[in-house]
Amino acid sequence: MASGPLADQLAAIASRIDEIARADARQLADLKTELLGRKAGQLTRVLRDLPSLAPDARRAVGRQANALKHQIEAALAARQESLARGTQRADVDLTMPGRRTWRGATHPIQQVVDEICGIFKDLGFARVVGSEAESEAYNFTKLNIPLDHPAADMHDTFYLGRGLVLRTHTSPVQAHVMERYPPPIRVVVPGLVYRRDPFDPSHAPVFDQIEGLAVDEGVSFVDFKAAIDYFVHRFFSRETAVRFRASYFPFTEPSAEVDVQCQMCGGSGCSTCKQTGWMEIMGAGMVHPAVFEACGLDPERFTGYAFGMGPARIALVRYGIPDIRMLYQNDMRFLDQFVE
Ligand code: DAH
Repeated sequence: MASGPLADQLAAIASRIDEIARADARQLADLKTELLGRKAGQLTRVLRDLPSLAPDARRAVGRQANALKHQIEAALAARQESLARGTQRADVDLTMPGRRTWRGATHPIQQVVDEICGIFKDLGFARVVGSEAESEAYNFTKLNIPLDHPAADMHDTFYLGRGLVLRTHTSPVQAHVMERYPPPIRVVVPGLVYRRDPFDPSHAPVFDQIEGLAVDEGVSFVDFKAAIDYFVHRFFSRETAVRFRASYFPFTEPSAEVDVQCQMCGGSGCSTCKQTGWMEIMGAGMVHPAVFEACGLDPERFTGYAFGMGPARIALVRYGIPDIRMLYQNDMRFLDQFVE
């Protein structure tokens, strides 16, 4: 080991090496200048002063100085690299909220469909589905709708050719079920239906329906009212008033429309319920004998009730959504409000 002032300086320089491993980018640049700088670097100065030493000492200190220089250069390079690798991490703001992983969720209409089918399931209704392409026979004639009836008119129906249509309602599934399964029948049928309607705040050319059908010996209008009362009170609230209004559908006799107390104003009248205090939620009635006959069931023996509702409409009523199109536009800012 060499001794003397230059050797002491080398020892002092060597004691700085640990700082290199802890330096940030700026400190690293300073250290490099301070130790190895061409003009005033401490090690540079030692090397420059070497000629003042006696030859033996010069060789010894020189060897030591060169070794130290390599060591410092290696340490600087290593730190440089590790800083470069960790740049982003060194700048992390630990107080910043984490990024939420994106989770898919059930669409509000589907939530309503599932809930409605769940309530009817508790009343013994099975969930079945049909086909969106139907023959005119199932969409219309078997349901006692003659092909010249306004509902069968070109205006409402998308015709696919060769006697097929996009179903305009889920009612054709009633006919399929009655032809296929013997009573007692209790089914709910969710699905999409199509009509040549413009997209406006209360209409969509494709929308959801849920059909219901209960057929057995001795099924009466009272059974129908009881089932619907049960449904409304579970789906809306125990306090929600229900009323049955006489109406007309070709496939039911008698026919009714079911209204519930407006969910927006509680029945006092508002713009949503057009000041009536009521909102319509479904069409319904006792299955028409002509429908039983068309589906091969004896109308003298069997009776039943049927109903059809639009879950999108019901979602509007329930959540106070002003425009049905919002349910079909898939704007995440809207849908996010329904994430459960
Ligand atoms: N199919 C009817 C429609 O789309 C709704 C409907 C009314 C269904 C009365 C029924 C019913 O089952 O009994 O407007």
